[in-house]
Amino acid sequence: MTDRTRGMLRGFFLACFFLAGLSAIQFAELFDLEVWAGSRPSKKSAADLGDAGRGREVFNGKGICYYCHGVDGYRDRQPQLAADTASLIAQLNPQPPDLRNSESLQLTSDKARFNAIREGHPGTGMFPDTTMTAQELTDTLAYLALLRHEGSAKRK
Ligand code: HEC
Repeated sequence: MTDRTRGMLRGFFLACFFLAGLSAIQFAELFDLEVWAGSRPSKKSAADLGDAGRGREVFNGKGICYYCHGVDGYRDRQPQLAADTASLIAQLNPQPPDLRNSESLQLTSDKARFNAIREGHPGTGMFPDTTMTAQELTDTLAYLALLRHEGSAKRK
């Protein structure tokens, strides 16, 4: 092997190591994002990573968010519920907020919303949801971002 080919080989291996290292870092960042769901503003938010269309299905389906927050997040679009369930929801104090009105909302980060959905909020109607996968939660966060966006576009 000449010195030249050896040099080229070494360069090639170095490049491989460099690329492998890079993708490992990217992978770690993605994983971090899944867990913290966009806690750091410098990184992509969960809304960028999630699929709002699938989030909508979770919201109006498995997540049963629509029971309290209304179909598609419209507070005046109440689903057909059993009378006792509906009356329990009507009596909630505080009442479920309008997820389309960002000005009336208290949580300001996807991390806080992630926790509110995953862990619930003791003493309120928000009960913990442990059945959603991390992807479903990320998709739901993307859908919530869309609701806020649509809501503020409408008010302008
Ligand atoms: C049983 C009724 C009920 C259900 C079901 C429910 N919520 Fe809520 N949600 C509430 C209430 C009540 C609050 C206000 C809680 C508070 O003030 O702490 C709330 C608060 C929230 C907030 C915080 C809003 C803010 O102020 O920033 C988010 C986000 C939210 N809900 C999303 C969801 C999602 C997503 C689902 C479905 C996975 C869901 N909720 C299911 C009743 C409900």
